[in-house]
Amino acid sequence: MTNRYRQDAAAAARSRLQDMARLRGLGMLPKDGDFFPSVHYPSITMYPPISEEAMFGGYEMPADGLVDIYVHIPFCRRRCVFCHYPSHYGAGDEEKDGYLTALEKEMDLLIARLGVRRLQARSILIGGGTPTDLSPLQLERFLKAFVARVEISPKVQFNYDVDPGTLVGPEGEHRLRLLRDYGVNRLTIGVQSLRDDLLRAMNRDHDAATARLSVANSLALGFKVNIEFIFGYPGQTLENWLDVVEEAIALNPDEIQLYRLKVIPYGDQRGAIERVRQLRPQDIPPVEEALTMKQAAIEVLRAHGYLENLRRVFTRDRANISKYAFNQCCMLFDQVGLGQTAFSSYRNRFALNTQSFDEYYARIAAGRLPVNRGLVRSLDDQMRWAIILPLKNYSLRRRHFQKVTGVALEASPFAARLQLLKEHGLVDETALEFRLTPLGAFFADEVVELFHARPYIPFAATNYEPGPLNPYELNPA
Ligand SMILES: C[S@@+](CC[C@H](N)C(=O)[O-])C[C@H]1O[C@@H](n2cnc3c(N)ncnc32)[C@H](O)[C@@H]1O
Ligand code: SF4
Repeated sequence: MTNRYRQDAAAAARSRLQDMARLRGLGMLPKDGDFFPSVHYPSITMYPPISEEAMFGGYEMPADGLVDIYVHIPFCRRRCVFCHYPSHYGAGDEEKDGYLTALEKEMDLLIARLGVRRLQARSILIGGGTPTDLSPLQLERFLKAFVARVEISPKVQFNYDVDPGTLVGPEGEHRLRLLRDYGVNRLTIGVQSLRDDLLRAMNRDHDAATARLSVANSLALGFKVNIEFIFGYPGQTLENWLDVVEEAIALNPDEIQLYRLKVIPYGDQRGAIERVRQLRPQDIPPVEEALTMKQAAIEVLRAHGYLENLRRVFTRDRANISKYAFNQCCMLFDQVGLGQTAFSSYRNRFALNTQSFDEYYARIAAGRLPVNRGLVRSLDDQMRWAIILPLKNYSLRRRHFQKVTGVALEASPFAARLQLLKEHGLVDETALEFRLTPLGAFFADEVVELFHARPYIPFAATNYEPGPLNPYELNPA
């Protein structure tokens, strides 16, 4: 450790390990050290089949007509070792053109189903896969088709999730200009690491120099830039991880996002990292090391003015967080998802598009929306959802909970549980809201999993110690 603040960071990180042992003893953390990112509730991988009619029956657009819009472009140049997302690798132009044709038709089908002339965007995220894994010609085709069908006011945040390799060289610069010209104003770049040895081990399609250049090119064109990293990766040490965090800060992005490596998938798709662990378990840093890396990075980021303004997202200015993410996890606004595997949330129901390319194309060709799984939420699901996502990510506001569920938070079955969390130093309460304390925020996924109904608790009962914070004891059958 060279600097004083790095020493402080390492010391603070070590004290988190005592917290981990204590909370595990109270039944809250799984014994095997695994974690489950509570991104949706219930987890989208657990939805039963649903028909298009059941999905949209009785649905009316929100009064202001605004929706958050997600579009999925499922192509990547190659497959990263850690990635469990479903994507198609090395597809040719013909296949991508076919997908864009289907996507345009899906947009038209959805617009007709919702009975509107165009969609009106509250915020937009185009993700994948790698939605810039298209030629500039195809990218322009998509953007043109999209903006023809979506009303986008100048203040709308229009996000794109991108890979560094697609943003450099003449083609990359062409893509960036196209994105800017069609109104995209914020990019999330998957940098993952700034070490060539790690990037190679991850099978990334870029080296560290390309990652740096992609950030510089994007900032130069005036985009807000978010860069993403993975920690707890084979080959990482606390020292070399903090070097990367410091270099990331020096690139001066608007946002830095940190993901702990998830080795065991929680969806239907399985990344190669699981096989790496089977073959060489000693290569995967143990949970203690991963959590030390996380806390030390939080300290280093804080020392440079980057605060956790949404869970695992660090910005100097709160205004730079993703509005799409905030709307989805804190406001619980209606969100429409387009494309293979895309997720939608409509007032009191969730829908998931098919994961199969064949089914996706067949449905669209038959003039049907490609929704095949979903959940109409019960009041119990609705209350848990309205606690889990806002509490995990930012703040559980009493008025908002009541608006979304029709139930006063203090009269809900979960009021006593919030008090229990307060007694254990995991949440703070004011007249307006509940928020995670720094300790609660560090273990945010596990805190909110105490609100999961039994079938949705991510790990088996045998993986938790008995105790007052055991999710099975708190959520009886
Ligand atoms: C949907 S991925 C797509 C990003 C984009 N295609 C790219 O690779 O740059 C979004 C982010 O999730 C993170 N991620 C993906 N798989 C992960 C895993 N197994 N564990 C932790 N983070 C992961 C990565 O940081 C990645 O940038
Ligand atoms: S991390 Fe990104 S580029 Fe890599 S396989 Fe996953 S979606 Fe594709």
